[in-house]
Amino acid sequence: MENGAGNEAAAAWNFAPNDSLLGVTALSVRGVLGSIKAGMVEDSGGGDGERPVIPLGHGDPSAFPCFRTAPEAVDAVAGALRSGEYNSYANATCVGLKLARRSISQYLSRDLPYELSADDVYLTSGCTQAIEIVCSVLARHGANVLLPRPGYLFYEARAVLNGMEARYFDLVAERGWEVDLDGVQALADRNTVAMVIVNPGNPCGNVYTYEHLAKVAEMARKLGIFVIADEVYAHLTFGERKFVPMGVFGSVAPVLTLGSISKRWVVPGWRLGWIVTNDPNGVFRKTKVVDSIKSYLDISTDPVTFVQGAIPQLIENTKQEFFDKTVEVLRQTADICWEKLKGISCITCPSKPEGSMFVMVKLDLSCLEDIKDDMDFCCRLAKEELVVVLPGCAVGYKNWLRITFAIAPSSLHDGLDRLKLFCLRHSKPEM
Ligand SMILES: Cc1ncc(COP(=O)(O)O)c(C=O)c1O
Repeated sequence: MENGAGNEAAAAWNFAPNDSLLGVTALSVRGVLGSIKAGMVEDSGGGDGERPVIPLGHGDPSAFPCFRTAPEAVDAVAGALRSGEYNSYANATCVGLKLARRSISQYLSRDLPYELSADDVYLTSGCTQAIEIVCSVLARHGANVLLPRPGYLFYEARAVLNGMEARYFDLVAERGWEVDLDGVQALADRNTVAMVIVNPGNPCGNVYTYEHLAKVAEMARKLGIFVIADEVYAHLTFGERKFVPMGVFGSVAPVLTLGSISKRWVVPGWRLGWIVTNDPNGVFRKTKVVDSIKSYLDISTDPVTFVQGAIPQLIENTKQEFFDKTVEVLRQTADICWEKLKGISCITCPSKPEGSMFVMVKLDLSCLEDIKDDMDFCCRLAKEELVVVLPGCAVGYKNWLRITFAIAPSSLHDGLDRLKLFCLRHSKPEM
């Protein structure tokens, strides 16, 4: 059908899509990687020839045998399923099964100076739904939320969909991607409700110190806002700095901690996450934020019941060796990444990653002959070398790249070698 005829036909109908949804793909890692991969499939026949596609674009290493989840986690889910006790809706209480909430509260309390209770925990479908809920709960008329740049743009997508303004503060590359606290203060006004920190960091691979988090809490208190602490990469640290949960400072300023089993247990497909109120002073109760979370959960879908039912066994039985092994592989692959990137002249890496699965690197386009920007770089890299990398524009940082090192070491070597070849091939000749 020709376009004109198509438009006329569309005009005959009463319905039209929600316009605000049409732009959000640009704010989603999935959407951006989708368009990069689409070009690759068309031009290379799907990469099913001699060279495999190397996925350095997204944070899901579960397909690699060296990142296979713990057998105890699989047993926990299989046991819950076989028991026949978890075939029902879990919605006698919309907030999740009590046994799972209790188990998560005990697990998180190990790293806190106070005890959480099951009632502080709300179960969600992965950390994704936790973000979705928090952004809806906050979105009163005129509200704004402060987000880190570079950052995880899903927060902006959800904020904007709910009619809330997203404002960006900088993470400072020269200071290990610390929060620019002066910038936070300058951005905030009486309509600011919260600030987000992601620790360990996506996309920067940074880990915040106790002292820095204490300053973040003090700033939040001064501004009268709360902290949304995205700790989906909790405990995935392999440098000098250990993970400190933001909840440690819950009595300075209230903290909503968002997390999931997706990353530490390497099971993003199991879709089990949480929102936790780290708030010994009861601010969230007094301000009715808690009621609002419960109301949202009343009208949304629950995480799968048998995964909820498996949580106590999954947490109790997973051996420390499993976590140690995952972190050891990440340490190794972060080292490979750091060393190999040093040998690529049009790329600079401001700091070695110490946590999560990612590193941010700066592209020097002036060294490259025929590459327009980061998106162009990634599309052509995918087509020519079958290596998928996320352009910085997908994390709010134009002309940078986010590289995932959470893949098998041999594939990472291969991918980074191909990245180097690509850069050499497109380099300007030396003067
Ligand atoms: C910073 C951050 N928050 C939340 C999520 C979503 O987590 P989940 O897979 O548990 O939904 C991700 C996933 O990559 C993430 O990187």
